[in-house]
Amino acid sequence: MMGCNVFILLKLLLISEFHSHCLCFSHQYYFVNINLTWTDAQAYCRENYTDLATIDNMEEMKRLTESVDTDYTGEAWIGLMKGTSWRWQWSSGEGDTGYTNWDTGATYNQNNGHCCVGMRDDGCWNNVNCSYQTQVGYFICYTAPTYEDRINVTWNFTFIDQHMNWFDAQSYCRYSYTDLATVRNKEDNDLIHKMVTNGTWVWIGLFQDTWEWSDLSNSSFRNWKIGQNDNENNTCALAQVTWPGTWDMTPCDEKHPFICYDDCLILVNRTMTWNETLNYCRTHYFDLASVHNEEIQQWVSRMAEKASTDQVWLGLRFSCSPNFWFWVSAENVSYQTWSPNNISSSNMCETTGAVQSGNPDYWVSLPDTEELSFMCSICPGNAQYLQNKNVENYKVASESHFACAFHSLYPSHDKLFFPNSK
Ligand SMILES: *[C@@H]1O[C@H](CO)[C@@H](O)[C@H](O)[C@H]1NC(C)=O
Ligand SMILES: *[C@@H]1O[C@H](CO)[C@@H](O)[C@H](O)[C@H]1NC(C)=O
Ligand SMILES: *[C@@H]1O[C@H](CO)[C@@H](O)[C@H](O)[C@H]1NC(C)=O
Ligand SMILES: *[C@@H]1O[C@H](CO)[C@@H](O)[C@H](O)[C@H]1NC(C)=O
Ligand SMILES: *[C@@H]1O[C@H](CO)[C@@H](O)[C@H](O)[C@H]1NC(C)=O
Ligand SMILES: *[C@@H]1O[C@H](CO)[C@@H](O)[C@H](O)[C@H]1NC(C)=O
Ligand SMILES: *[C@@H]1O[C@H](CO)[C@@H](O)[C@H](O)[C@H]1NC(C)=O
Ligand SMILES: *[C@@H]1O[C@H](CO)[C@@H](O)[C@H](O)[C@H]1NC(C)=O
Ligand SMILES: *[C@@H]1O[C@H](CO)[C@@H](O)[C@H](O)[C@H]1NC(C)=O
Ligand SMILES: *[C@@H]1O[C@H](CO)[C@@H](O)[C@H](O)[C@H]1NC(C)=O
Ligand SMILES: *[C@@H]1O[C@H](CO)[C@@H](O)[C@H](O)[C@H]1NC(C)=O
Ligand SMILES: *[C@@H]1O[C@H](CO)[C@@H](O)[C@H](O)[C@H]1NC(C)=O
Repeated sequence: MMGCNVFILLKLLLISEFHSHCLCFSHQYYFVNINLTWTDAQAYCRENYTDLATIDNMEEMKRLTESVDTDYTGEAWIGLMKGTSWRWQWSSGEGDTGYTNWDTGATYNQNNGHCCVGMRDDGCWNNVNCSYQTQVGYFICYTAPTYEDRINVTWNFTFIDQHMNWFDAQSYCRYSYTDLATVRNKEDNDLIHKMVTNGTWVWIGLFQDTWEWSDLSNSSFRNWKIGQNDNENNTCALAQVTWPGTWDMTPCDEKHPFICYDDCLILVNRTMTWNETLNYCRTHYFDLASVHNEEIQQWVSRMAEKASTDQVWLGLRFSCSPNFWFWVSAENVSYQTWSPNNISSSNMCETTGAVQSGNPDYWVSLPDTEELSFMCSICPGNAQYLQNKNVENYKVASESHFACAFHSLYPSHDKLFFPNSK
């Protein structure tokens, strides 16, 4: 085994075939095919999962529809219920940006049925009936940058030379771009203002409603069917479980199947050595958590704040020969956010990676004997997938010397990384 070419391991970690297929996001959806009222469904989800489904964007909507693996093609409760306070929100799901540019005298804080927002040729905002569609009304879509380069990138706005009501415009933008435009500051407003020709106006992504999520999340994502019957009795939301998963308003005491969610990452608020945590996560969930981009890092940071230890174990481990960090899920460490000066190039054997639970939420290297809280990941089809993953990984691994390379790193611990292997 000493003859194994460890560089094969390095190379393997860099090729995409070796990405495990656990794409960990914030919400993992579960379809429950029992007819319950919205309130009973909420209680069921809160006891057996985290809560009724919260949906943040179109990608999650797609994952939600994919979570329904039965023949059911009807509608299911999601965690949205009508409240009483009106709030302005951006279609893209951005929170309050702190910037507005209302026209003087705009009735922006009244519920007068004019719940969507248009920008006029003077750059000012006015609220407009969302159903309004005219020959002088156009709209602005934007294309979001990727998470990796989100910081410092100005929104990429596109003027759409078509006349639609706000909801159709929103669908159009979500289909061909990212969403209707979010106007975060004066620079954004100026960019859009330049696109509005005299005597015309454009929809932007701002709208107002009273809907609230069961888990109190601030998600402003909405995916209503056109022509909702928005009356005082229709106060709970149903999603069509087939793509594109549009939503209906209906009385909460009707009985329907429902969709619950779990966070895809779990903070285990017990303390263990790193090796024990790896075993624990693989037994109870899927794996020790790995972080592949800014989005996941932010999620991890928010969860780590609730831990009882100053650091929280992640699935990061250092390989001594050659020297490099890897994720135990056999994934590449491409995104990284190490604490400055924390990584020395030598003497890191038997060290493992944790995330700091306080600000700043950098990663630090620690001896694997430390006892810390930790984070596990959950994956689609958990138990079934867990088995497949190990078998499949091991199969690929033996074919390509992966196990051999691991074996040279941890001679007596094949079982640690490939517990189901034979
Ligand atoms: C692995 O990381 C390297 C940079 O360290 C990057 O060039 C490569 O594309 C990554 N591979 C995958 C599959 O993400
Ligand atoms: C739920 O109710 C519908 C309509 O009453 C019925 O057709 C369906 O079989 C029920 N589903 C279950 C799982 O009981
Ligand atoms: C949680 O799930 C179990 C088993 O499916 C079920 O018997 C129980 O009623 C659920 N909890 C609630 C509060 O509905
Ligand atoms: C908004 O426009 C629609 C369609 O033109 C109309 O039916 C509705 O009454 C309007 N709402 C208000 C509050 O004006
Ligand atoms: C973003 O821009 C600011 C000011 O120009 C700069 O200080 C900061 O380092 C940049 N951030 C990134 C991630 O490039
Ligand atoms: C802007 O959006 C267009 C259309 O979605 C896209 O083709 C283009 O690459 C984007 N430009 C930048 C700089 O992101
Ligand atoms: C647009 O209107 C402004 C003021 O209302 C005027 O100064 C400008 O010349 C007009 N531009 C065009 C192209 O008509
Ligand atoms: C929702 O927004 C409010 C105010 O902006 C904030 O205080 C609250 O923490 C947010 N809730 C969540 C779950 O993010
Ligand atoms: C709402 O329900 C009440 C009681 O069932 C009924 O009297 C009223 O007409 C309903 N309103 C609408 C708009 O359907
Ligand atoms: C973790 O445990 C600490 C103390 O044991 C407690 O203060 C904290 O609330 C717990 N966090 C969670 C998320 O349960
Ligand atoms: C990294 O930071 C942690 C926590 O502050 C510390 O215990 C550890 O010794 C540091 N490691 C190195 C190599 O500096
Ligand atoms: C943890 O497991 C690794 C790999 O199997 C092993 O080399 C190391 O000695 C273990 N650490 C402890 C503290 O048991």
